[in-house]
Amino acid sequence: MCGIFGYVGKKTNAAEIVLAGLKRLEYRGYDSWGVAAVSKNKIFVKKKIGKIGSATVEDLPASTLALGHTRWATHGGVTDQNAHPHADCSGTIALIHNGIFENYEEYKVKLLKLGHRFTSDTDTEVIVHLIEEYAQSMPLTDAVEKAFKAMHGLNAIIVLSTKLDTFIAIRNGSPLVLGFSGGENFLASDPAALLPHTKTVYFLGDNEMAIVGSKTAKIRNIQTGKTVRAQKQTLTWDIHQAEKGNYRDFMSKEIHEQSGIIADIAASGTGLAQRIAAHIKKTPHLYLVGCGSASYAAIAGEYLFSKIAGRHANIAIGSEFGYHLDFLTRQSVVIAISQSGETMDILESVKKAKAKGAQIYALVNVLGSTLYREATEKILIGAGPEKSVASTKALTGMLSQLTLLAYALAGKPEEGTLVLTLAAKSVKTVLEKTQDSAIRKLAGKLKHVQHIYTIGRGLSYPAALEAAMKIKEISYIHAEGLAAGELKHGPLALVTRGTPCIAFLPDDETYGANLAGAMEMKARGGFVIGVSHKPHEVFDEYINVQDAGPATIIPNVVVAQLLAYYLTLARGLDPDMPRNLAKSVTVK
Ligand code: AGP
Repeated sequence: MCGIFGYVGKKTNAAEIVLAGLKRLEYRGYDSWGVAAVSKNKIFVKKKIGKIGSATVEDLPASTLALGHTRWATHGGVTDQNAHPHADCSGTIALIHNGIFENYEEYKVKLLKLGHRFTSDTDTEVIVHLIEEYAQSMPLTDAVEKAFKAMHGLNAIIVLSTKLDTFIAIRNGSPLVLGFSGGENFLASDPAALLPHTKTVYFLGDNEMAIVGSKTAKIRNIQTGKTVRAQKQTLTWDIHQAEKGNYRDFMSKEIHEQSGIIADIAASGTGLAQRIAAHIKKTPHLYLVGCGSASYAAIAGEYLFSKIAGRHANIAIGSEFGYHLDFLTRQSVVIAISQSGETMDILESVKKAKAKGAQIYALVNVLGSTLYREATEKILIGAGPEKSVASTKALTGMLSQLTLLAYALAGKPEEGTLVLTLAAKSVKTVLEKTQDSAIRKLAGKLKHVQHIYTIGRGLSYPAALEAAMKIKEISYIHAEGLAAGELKHGPLALVTRGTPCIAFLPDDETYGANLAGAMEMKARGGFVIGVSHKPHEVFDEYINVQDAGPATIIPNVVVAQLLAYYLTLARGLDPDMPRNLAKSVTVK
């Protein structure tokens, strides 16, 4: 999952345009960055480890053709040499890559024997030398195609050369989107990065090769050999949605957008939910699949469908779904849930499910993403571009759409709108000054702890899981989400004096039993933080959440987001780009 940006056009500051594009994509991977620009028949490359920060490319020459890459390391450590772009021996071809060239070793051995000199230990550098080797006996575009076809794995490569005034892009699995503007064209791994330049885009399909110049974009399917006419789409996002504005970081912006987004989803009508529900009613097998936070949305969906509509749904996490496929038939419906629509664990599962004849429905945030295009039915989450690695508004957007779907399945769509409207109001209250400062104060008390446990039952169980995810992925405090009833079956052994436990206690049928979990922690010295509609003497700290019926999971999750955020700030960490992670996991 890397950030890729390319420019070809009439402007002569191509390197600067690319660097600015990379800054908008850095959440996709930030181990290192690099830019290559073509000028006067030479390629100039600048690449560094670490985040872009205040770096510039002023030392690169004027150019009208440039490529750039931000890296999330897979093969080869985080070093300047391993950063992309990589050049061939002659320095006349440069390449950037997203994905894993699984069979690179066999080619590296052959290329070394042919005298190629390597400067890095990446799989990526093998590709550019392979292209150089093939280009000795064929046109460059054919050499790029031949090299790509030799690669096993899911990849995207972009090549520029001193011999062409275009860039060449091919993808199979890893996302690439072309952007078109008068007399200049763009390439990016994520549509949000194109917004400052254009909203007219084309999402490159698998095995499509694009040869892009300032005025042309020739696209061909390298499997069929057929020319592809780009079905251009217009992005519905506005540029301010993809920028921080006056916020300190993307995460705080995206947290604070949620009450508005949930209210918008509630007000967006229930027509689509009712149409999808009518399809779901016909299938005997329904699956909800997601990864990470999206898998918790899947678990919540299972509870919502059962509790509200009496409808059974199987759940699976994306990386495990491939081992559940034996149950799938042509009657099965798989609702694949993903913010980016590019998560490889989901895409792989979807491909296998489609091969079994299952219908794929997508609950996805990015128009035109791979999952969006693979699905027969699509529900756009409607959260707008989400840039912080920690998912917030997309997750509550997923929960909102699943709530509407559950009520539509129950034949009570209007009730779903009402419940969501309540949830939007409850989120607004959580985000107001009083609650915000209470949560920030709590973070100050917890910032040095080693472990935090989060518990819930029923719909607050996925809330507990999501709370633990937010805390661990950005504050690096170990956090574990538990079904409250499970404490006594083992985890309670971990509780000693002062162990912090966040108990989510919505006003529903689980309240009493949930409280028992909090009391078990308290009896062993635990420090109990109650997140509930009313206080209780067992709570050492209390965060009020206005009840929103089955949608109370949404404000509960927002409390957890704020706590994780303030813990991260208190620990002097970056909430938007946590170590070792990236926004969209496009490798298996
Ligand atoms: C959530 O905060 C994490 N960034 C991560 O678990 C994420 O939800 C997961 O990688 C799935 O991403 P997706 O929704 O884009 O498929």
